[in-house]
Amino acid sequence: MSQTVSMEKIVSFCKRRGFVYQSSEIYGGIRSSYDYGPLGVELKKNIKEEWWRRLVHMRDDVVGLDSAIIQHPRVWEASGHTGTFNDMLVESRTSGRRYRADHLIEEATETDAEGLSAEEMTEIIRTDDRIKDPADGGRDFTEVRPFNLMFETYTGPVKGPENLAFLRPETAQGIFTNFKNVLDTSRVKVPFGIAQQGKSFRNEITPGNFIFRTREFEQMEMEFFVEPGTDEQWHEFWIEERWNWYTSLGINPDNLRRYEHPEEKLSHYSKRTVDIEYNFPFAGWSELEGIANRTDYDLKQHAEHSGENLEYIDQTTNQRYYPYVIEPAGGPDRIMLAFLSDAFTEEEVNGEERTVLKLHPRIAPIKAAVFPLSKKEPVSTVARELYDDLKGDYRIFYDDSGSIGRRYRRQDEAGTPFCVTVDFDTMDDNSVTIRDRDTMQQERIPLAAVRERLQKLISG
Ligand code: GAP
Repeated sequence: MSQTVSMEKIVSFCKRRGFVYQSSEIYGGIRSSYDYGPLGVELKKNIKEEWWRRLVHMRDDVVGLDSAIIQHPRVWEASGHTGTFNDMLVESRTSGRRYRADHLIEEATETDAEGLSAEEMTEIIRTDDRIKDPADGGRDFTEVRPFNLMFETYTGPVKGPENLAFLRPETAQGIFTNFKNVLDTSRVKVPFGIAQQGKSFRNEITPGNFIFRTREFEQMEMEFFVEPGTDEQWHEFWIEERWNWYTSLGINPDNLRRYEHPEEKLSHYSKRTVDIEYNFPFAGWSELEGIANRTDYDLKQHAEHSGENLEYIDQTTNQRYYPYVIEPAGGPDRIMLAFLSDAFTEEEVNGEERTVLKLHPRIAPIKAAVFPLSKKEPVSTVARELYDDLKGDYRIFYDDSGSIGRRYRRQDEAGTPFCVTVDFDTMDDNSVTIRDRDTMQQERIPLAAVRERLQKLISG
């Protein structure tokens, strides 16, 4: 990765190549909402599929789930979101802008403000002259107040408090509320996990850094239920496993690190949390995902609030207990930004600048491109046949316009790992040229071997 790549460069690249667009752009855009274009949707889907493959399909102790976005409002009381899922909000009376109070304090004083009460923050902002409105330098602020991040909505035609509902702020709770359903309907035994991917919503006060922090985003979460006492080993196991997932998909390990949450800052449910952080070229070290030991907090909370017994009964020993939970929780939007930043490369080749996305073949949006050297028959017919043969397995791109050099460059930017060219010699020797995106080496291989070769190269 080039360490100098700026956010602007990534944003304009993403737009130009159809990865990510500003949402509602024809109306001037809406802050913090993004739409994924033809290449972006493939990349994010591949990231989600690789996560699912590794966490669900390749294991025999994890099952999947897809729970609702709108759930019973009491779910959020039990989980603690109604009471404590707040950010501290302060408004500047001079500019009318709203800020996260902890961020304002931290940026001006370089001290840690997270965890302070609203009253404490109000007092610091009132008395410390260094704290100014970043928009206009003003020092006239409202009192700091907690702001709940859950999006509210109403179910049915009546907009009254009795119909108030929330868009889920995390996918995790749908897993806890279905713990008993899954136990009763599948043959899982502790230790086992339930994995889920899907949209979550948070009314972030200060979204930003492109798709890093948005109000609507996706999560990939897994709750892994274990016997108390074995939780610490399992926690280590999942930290390691998640780290390896990133590196196995090509992320440079030098750009990854573990961040251990200090004890006094742990979430109310957590015994220990370790984040996997990525060194974003434009934002520095930032959380990609958190791996938390949630103890038996959530199951006990839901048992208490719902009145259902959510204990696990070990059939062999007849022991009853509330399992502890290890939770790897990440977001594919943010993870996609890390993969893009890591893969984005600008290099000079024969005196010319080349932009290339060195994405791992497994997550590359397009796996291979097929180029006929000529638009005419028989070259085009053979190339079409090859394309038709390959396209059911992966996203394949057919391109017969422009010089071969230009076609390569377009695919380099899209991150396509392999380009197969059908030329005039193919008619005589039944061979084609396969070109590697990163090394730019070309190899002649039999036409009949292309499919198998690609399969090997992509899954290897
Ligand atoms: N169930 C635990 C949980 O939700 P979290 O750290 O708040 O933990 C997990 O969220 C992951 O979800 C984060 O590491 C991040 O990848 C993603 N995520 C959270 N808030 C996000 C936002 N506003 N925009 C994009 N991704 C977000």
